[in-house]
Amino acid sequence: MSPRRVRAGSDAVGRQDRPLRITVDGEPVDGIAGQTIAGVLLADDRLAWRRGRSGAPRGVFCGIGVCFDCLVTVGEERDVRACRRRALDGDVVTTQSRQDAEPAPGTEER
Ligand code: FES
Repeated sequence: MSPRRVRAGSDAVGRQDRPLRITVDGEPVDGIAGQTIAGVLLADDRLAWRRGRSGAPRGVFCGIGVCFDCLVTVGEERDVRACRRRALDGDVVTTQSRQDAEPAPGTEER
């Protein structure tokens, strides 16, 4: 268990944890119901899971769905903001980088 996750027994609001398991690039990662995918990744000590155009590591920057630094693929759906998507038991998450993406129309590099 990660030190980043407050244990249910010491949580002041007395929450009841329901465990869930997602896979990230084929590896099982455990979380609790209610966490975002980014929350599950951070609790697993994964601070970055993609690379920007410059090659710099990217993970959570804003945490509120504005910066798009936390993009992942969930199932077949690309460009999911991990900070905005609740993790569901059985989610298959794949990390992605700009190099993987098709350029948006009109943004092709010349
Ligand atoms: S961290 Fe900024 S959109 Fe997810």
